[in-house]
Amino acid sequence: MATAITPRKILVTSALPYANGSIHLGHLVEYIQTDIWVRFQKMQGNTVHYVCADDTHGTPIMLRAEKEGITPEALIEAVHKEHFADFNEFLVEFDNYYSTNAPENKVLSQGIYKKLKANGKIATKTIEQFYDPVKNMFLPDRFIKGECPKCHAKDQYGDSCEVCGATYNPTELINAYSAVSGAAPVRKETEHYFFKLSECEQFLKDWTRSGTLQGEAANKMGEWFENGLNDWDISRDAPYFGFEIPDAPGKYFYVWLDAPIGYMASFKKLCQDQGLDFDEYWGQDSKTELYHFIGKDILYFHALFWPATLEFSGYRKPTQIFAHGFLTVNGEKMSKSRGTFITARSYLDHIKNPEYLRYYYAAKLNSTMEDIDLNLEDFVARVNSDLVGKYVNIASRTAGFINKRFDGKLLIPSTHPSSVQEIKNSAKFIAEYYESRDYGKALREIMRLADLANADVAEAAPWVKAKQEGDSAKIELHWDCSSALEMFRLLSLYLKPVLPKLVGEVEKFLNIAPLTWQSVDDSFADGHQINAYQHLITRIDPKSIEAMTEVNKENLQATPTPQPHSEQRHAVHQQNEVHADLPEVEYISIDDFTKVDLRIAKIVNAEHVEGAEKLLKLTLDIGEGNPRQVFAGIKSAYDPATLVGRLTVMVANLAPRKMKFGMSEGMVLAASDENGGPFILSPDAGAQLGMRVK
Ligand code: 2FM
Ligand code: ZN
Repeated sequence: MATAITPRKILVTSALPYANGSIHLGHLVEYIQTDIWVRFQKMQGNTVHYVCADDTHGTPIMLRAEKEGITPEALIEAVHKEHFADFNEFLVEFDNYYSTNAPENKVLSQGIYKKLKANGKIATKTIEQFYDPVKNMFLPDRFIKGECPKCHAKDQYGDSCEVCGATYNPTELINAYSAVSGAAPVRKETEHYFFKLSECEQFLKDWTRSGTLQGEAANKMGEWFENGLNDWDISRDAPYFGFEIPDAPGKYFYVWLDAPIGYMASFKKLCQDQGLDFDEYWGQDSKTELYHFIGKDILYFHALFWPATLEFSGYRKPTQIFAHGFLTVNGEKMSKSRGTFITARSYLDHIKNPEYLRYYYAAKLNSTMEDIDLNLEDFVARVNSDLVGKYVNIASRTAGFINKRFDGKLLIPSTHPSSVQEIKNSAKFIAEYYESRDYGKALREIMRLADLANADVAEAAPWVKAKQEGDSAKIELHWDCSSALEMFRLLSLYLKPVLPKLVGEVEKFLNIAPLTWQSVDDSFADGHQINAYQHLITRIDPKSIEAMTEVNKENLQATPTPQPHSEQRHAVHQQNEVHADLPEVEYISIDDFTKVDLRIAKIVNAEHVEGAEKLLKLTLDIGEGNPRQVFAGIKSAYDPATLVGRLTVMVANLAPRKMKFGMSEGMVLAASDENGGPFILSPDAGAQLGMRVK
């Protein structure tokens, strides 16, 4: 007698995306990876809850809201809607998609903090931090910029130089300035709260050894242990968008403290909605399984801070942490200039079908932390060849005969071709590959089986038999096509975690109940009625890829302000800092500004330039003898005679440039945009030629 296997109870999470940017193809690796695993587990009959949320707290979100003139709450609500819609359209099916700025999260975070404190794991220390005296706020390292102490590149961040790669402390920057206000930061003392991670070393070593991490991740932990664990700074000073620390007015939890607690909060909400038992999943002695899917850049937070936080506040620890690598596009980091920084929305607008990407990512994924590459040419070739040329081809070459010649009814032969059994036999291996996140292996096996099915169809050549006279040709045609559809049914079952929508269409067409892993043991009954075959999938048109990358390049041109570190979610996190988007404005320091010598100039002469369509030649006097010759692109708006004698503003220390019509020794300031111009600037009455403009 077969023993019934008790279904597993599993809670699964993906990392919580920051609420200050759009979901892009880099993010989607993780959500698609997790969603496939969850769908597979559900098909196995296990009880699985998949929760996630927007990660909503921190300085970047607070500043972005301020810049947009809205409250942080309004900003995170709008982003939540956008993220949810993106995930939904990519068929990422959360059981709850929540927000870290939720009452459940506040209660849980404050409760956990109190337990850590009661367990002696919280300390306070006065530290010195950079402070923006104009904005009246402490500055995270990423909001301090200046000249690299090593290579002297300008406008580098407080922690590392993007030009030479050096890492340093913000104190080492030359001419540091605040990226928020441009002011020179000052150092100021403040009391911070620390989680005593240094006291958790033995616990963490034991936990690491208990098989919770992939090999590479465990090695990484070894390195961290060797370097020694520092206490973790979990507080930030007001103004900060987050939760206040109990009994510490003006102090807030650092975003990374309440972010993973957001996993619990999202599940707590699900428990309220569905009557589930929260403690069964999070209690210290929980028998359920807990898995976190994350990118390798946030391993430190999930493999050190998080289990230690849980351990010393009386909760269960994760069963395993599944870290994946980064995404490259065409072998390189996603890039706005190459048009490969592609948002989820932009993909949907151009390529439309999310399952192409789900399939391609699955084909590339394995259980390691290796990076995966989206090669756009290979993407088109692989999807067209595997999904259209192999998988759907089985049905498209055979279903028409069943519908047209046999009223949509199947005729099952007493023995199917051997391929049917071979396909069934692979169920076990394919399940193991899914379970261990070796999706690439699973899909290679499924495509090998699709090749077998296609070879059977080619050999049976139903299109030939359809033209032959006589009953035996007719019966064989009926059998062959029915067997092909049996193989198609099995392959659909195997592909369902990756292609849930397409397989949903297949289930309708085959007129069968939703496929589960158990359905491997079913087969079509004789006389089973299928529905009319409708076109299931179209080839990817390479032109849509070109259009998508072109549009993404154009977007870049329309917004020329660089957004450092927004290009890759998986920039390496420093232990304590959030590498999130900075505000879009790229500030210059006051020093940069004072380098520009702006002067009141008198236009002593203005004339047309022979052969020049747009330029006038101006002679400008700033009271330093030798008036300057400047070519200005203002011909369309001014009659030169009307300019003579006027005062305007010029850049007096612009390096002279040799132009087609002669040297230009400066520049006059003029305003223009699509609504008109140019309008040259004039000072108020009283200004004298030669005065400095500051
Ligand atoms: O790296 C990130 O994008 C973070 N927002 C991930 C947080 S995951 C969890 F801990 F909340
Ligand atoms: Zn440098």
